[in-house]
Amino acid sequence: MTTTTATTPPAPATDDTPVLTATGVTMRFGGLTAVRAVDLTVSAHEIVGLIGPNGAGKTTFFNCLTGLYIPTEGTVTYRDTVLPPKPHLVTKAGVARTFQNIRLFANMTVLENVLVGRHTRTHEGLFSALLRTPRFHRAETASTRRAMELLDFTGLAPKADHLARNLPYGEQRKLEIARALASDPGLLLLDEPTAGMNPQETRATEALVRAIRAQGTAVLVIEHDMRFIFNLCDRVAVLVQGEKLVEGTSDVVQADERVIAAYLGTPFEGAPGEEELAEVEAAEAGAGATTGAGAGTGTDTAGTGTGTETAGDPGAARTEEDR
Ligand SMILES: Nc1ncnc2c1ncn2[C@@H]1O[C@H](COP(=O)(O)OP(=O)(O)OP(=O)(O)O)[C@@H](O)[C@H]1O
Ligand SMILES: [Mg+2]
Repeated sequence: MTTTTATTPPAPATDDTPVLTATGVTMRFGGLTAVRAVDLTVSAHEIVGLIGPNGAGKTTFFNCLTGLYIPTEGTVTYRDTVLPPKPHLVTKAGVARTFQNIRLFANMTVLENVLVGRHTRTHEGLFSALLRTPRFHRAETASTRRAMELLDFTGLAPKADHLARNLPYGEQRKLEIARALASDPGLLLLDEPTAGMNPQETRATEALVRAIRAQGTAVLVIEHDMRFIFNLCDRVAVLVQGEKLVEGTSDVVQADERVIAAYLGTPFEGAPGEEELAEVEAAEAGAGATTGAGAGTGTDTAGTGTGTETAGDPGAARTEEDR
């Protein structure tokens, strides 16, 4: 698939059935309550955004949904079944994720990384693999075909035999998505999928997420890039200090004064107005343009906070456990 620039508004969700239901999810670490009594649903065919300032508890909430953490309180169900507190069983149940801190097998090829993601959907036993039976070969061929389809879908097919660590940063993020899709999820959780990407890559990722939804996979996405979130999501929930502050459509959330105050920052006297901001952005977009004095002093109203990784750092491909 070729990802294209997407400017169209999000298609409305066509199915109200919740696939994910989180009820009263609370996560405490000693005296710190990182997530407090959060309720959230995601319906089939929906793209839901989860936003909030650094340290708000977004990744911790994902970890509670995907079995990395056992919530101190609350339940998480997927299609009416309580999810088991083991990541591989959550994946098997139909919920896949990517990580804020990229976790790829750096010394394996792009194709091999996707094949690893496929293993929850293959049923070949150890003996079949050791004896390399015809049944094993058929399964292996089918897995490779599916993995190549996914690389095509994410635009990575030409790099199938490259080592993951040699991919540019944006492509490593795409590869994480391809690997997550290899488990044929009904729900995909994305933790800062565009962190460190340039604007073109971000737009392409927007189109990719839409295409994923169009194929029948619901998406819950954490992002700091507000344009990405408000362009893409049917619904947005805002976490602040572990609690859900607001939830609603992009329009409702963007207009909510509590969100503006808590997340985007309270405007201060003398902060640049929209016109000035547009001028600053236009100047920044110009080749090698420098910003005028004071241009960088405004509040981060574009919400373009970045993730924790360094763009272009091949060492960013990691296998250790996420925070
Ligand atoms: N394993 C842990 N042990 C102790 N505290 C933790 C642990 N994981 C997260 N925290 C704390 O929980 C809070 C929420 O962290 P979390 O990473 O979920 O925030 P976040 O919203 O994802 O932030 P960011 O936007 O920076 O990624 C922070 O105060 C963090 O230090
Ligand atoms: Mg996080």
